[in-house]
Amino acid sequence: MNRSSFSISGEEFARLADYIYRRTGIFYDENKRYYVEKRVFDRMKATGHEKFRDYFLYLRCDASGQEFQRLVNALTVNETYFFREYDQLKCFAEEALPEMLKGGCGRERPLRVWSAGCSTGEEAYTLAIILLEMLDSDGFGFEVHATDINDEVLQQAEKGVYEQRSVREVPSVYLEKYFVPVYGKYCLKPVVKEKVRFYQVNLLDRAQMQKMRGFDAIFCRNVLIYFDDRARREVALSFYESLRPGGFIFLGHSESMSRIAPIFRVRKFKNAIIYQK
Ligand SMILES: C[S@@+](CC[C@H](N)C(=O)[O-])C[C@H]1O[C@@H](n2cnc3c(N)ncnc32)[C@H](O)[C@@H]1O
Repeated sequence: MNRSSFSISGEEFARLADYIYRRTGIFYDENKRYYVEKRVFDRMKATGHEKFRDYFLYLRCDASGQEFQRLVNALTVNETYFFREYDQLKCFAEEALPEMLKGGCGRERPLRVWSAGCSTGEEAYTLAIILLEMLDSDGFGFEVHATDINDEVLQQAEKGVYEQRSVREVPSVYLEKYFVPVYGKYCLKPVVKEKVRFYQVNLLDRAQMQKMRGFDAIFCRNVLIYFDDRARREVALSFYESLRPGGFIFLGHSESMSRIAPIFRVRKFKNAIIYQK
């Protein structure tokens, strides 16, 4: 079997897309058929399956969940970099954070921030750097939780070692202060790494989501763009439960919560629009 002669029928694609959607919220329409087919082909080769029908059965019957995990790892889009969407981060640091601190968090209890769909960790470590800059010298405490469905990116994130393209937007003063250059790569210093806890959470898994409680801010940027409205709504309502009263949710700049979950208040700050419980 070679890639050029391999294709799956419309009906097979629809069944596979529905299976992935129900388990992850990630929605593939016909336009994404080539993208999905290519990754399925690679998994079929890796697992020694010649026919899609056999592979699909194997995928569904694998009680360990390992093959599904590998397929998800191959399918997810993990593009990210440090200090992505700088204006919104500025809004977090200069406008939302002072409001959160007024509520007593930081001193009486740690401020808790969650990077949901953290990929290889750049967003979570960016938040840790910002919070170290804004809080630590005042003796405030904070935790950054970072989760993803893809277990390979989480392993990479834990290493805290990055290529130049990941750090291209890091202000030079922070690059010098928080990274060590080693053979052309950038290694995060322990002071940042120890502030972030990485673990696996599927945003569509109700049991896992019920354990995510007591957050002051959630960053879920460039994740829900791969979902359809029904799945977005389900995740948004879970986030509502995960936030403390007054907690904030930060989405990517092209994303909006108003239509899918009007339960959140819209806050228009100087640098960004964010949503509040
Ligand atoms: C494009 S990256 C976004 C990374 C980062 N938030 C940013 O904005 O730079 C999207 C991430 O969402 C994750 N993801 C997709 N579906 C998910 C789900 N159901 N549960 C948890 N994470 C998911 C993917 O694995 C991927 O790492």
